Amino acid sequence: MKHKSLVSITDYSKAEYLKVLEVANDFEKNSYQNLLNGKVVAALFFEPSTRTRLSFESAINRLGGKVIGFSDANTSSVTKGETLYDTIKVVSNYAELIVMRHPLEGSARYASEIAKVPIINAGDGANQHPTQTLLDLYSIYKTQGKLDNLNIYMVGDLKYGRTVHSLLMALSVFNANFYFISPDELKMPKEYKMYLDKIGLKFIEKKDIDDTINEADIIYMTRVQKERFSDPIEYERTKNAYVLKSDMMENCRPSMKVLHPLPRVNEIDIEVDSGPYAYYFEQTENGVYIREAIISLIMGLK
Ligand code: CP
Repeated sequence: MKHKSLVSITDYSKAEYLKVLEVANDFEKNSYQNLLNGKVVAALFFEPSTRTRLSFESAINRLGGKVIGFSDANTSSVTKGETLYDTIKVVSNYAELIVMRHPLEGSARYASEIAKVPIINAGDGANQHPTQTLLDLYSIYKTQGKLDNLNIYMVGDLKYGRTVHSLLMALSVFNANFYFISPDELKMPKEYKMYLDKIGLKFIEKKDIDDTINEADIIYMTRVQKERFSDPIEYERTKNAYVLKSDMMENCRPSMKVLHPLPRVNEIDIEVDSGPYAYYFEQTENGVYIREAIISLIMGLK
């Protein structure tokens, strides 16, 4: 992990996932550790973000580092026509680590091949969001006490949702049973289902949330992402496909938790927030400890 970019969740092994979780647990007990000691980290957000950017910035500050960068590419020289290649070449001279979110799939891998410092992918289009996945794994471990053999229900936009793509790959090494609930237009892409077939893991696809959720350990809700649709009519047709309500979970396992990478639009009714199953706000807090762990492991400080 030391000095290596984190572009895809598959860049890390199962042992490395567990190492990140162990170090995050250490940061959860004491999140202010001056390990970066003034080192500079660049946060380049070519796409909007609340949680990922601010939890990275919080993590860097808690580690005693300094953050440079932008949260809106319109304030950068991209507006003058500067390429991603040139931007990464230049920012590599200013920081010892680059955290980047970009709308193009594959952009983080491309940046990692150009940069002379490690790149952390903070989301590249509909492709991958590996730091979200590590905080999801941490949230699952904290709530279920294990990662192996869990029933994982992924609901909503499984086509464009980079968080579910990364999470599927990570949980596949823990022998998860997957249920994919989506409208036809937003089904889990074939390549991920072919991968599960290849490694012999079962999955079930459904169009509706029904009482099979009573067997769920985790319900992972996702937003239908307006920004990924080229056809606005398709977005309008699917945007309200699922709204999770408290009465739908009356017979769920007591230990079951609802996760969501957020932002939420209307796919989880707000009455769920005060019930026993909601964990999505605690999940955001876990993001700080996980990102402290990832940064310190990549920088060779843990
Ligand atoms: N979960 C997540 O990626 O949220 P943001 O888009 O607000 O960073």
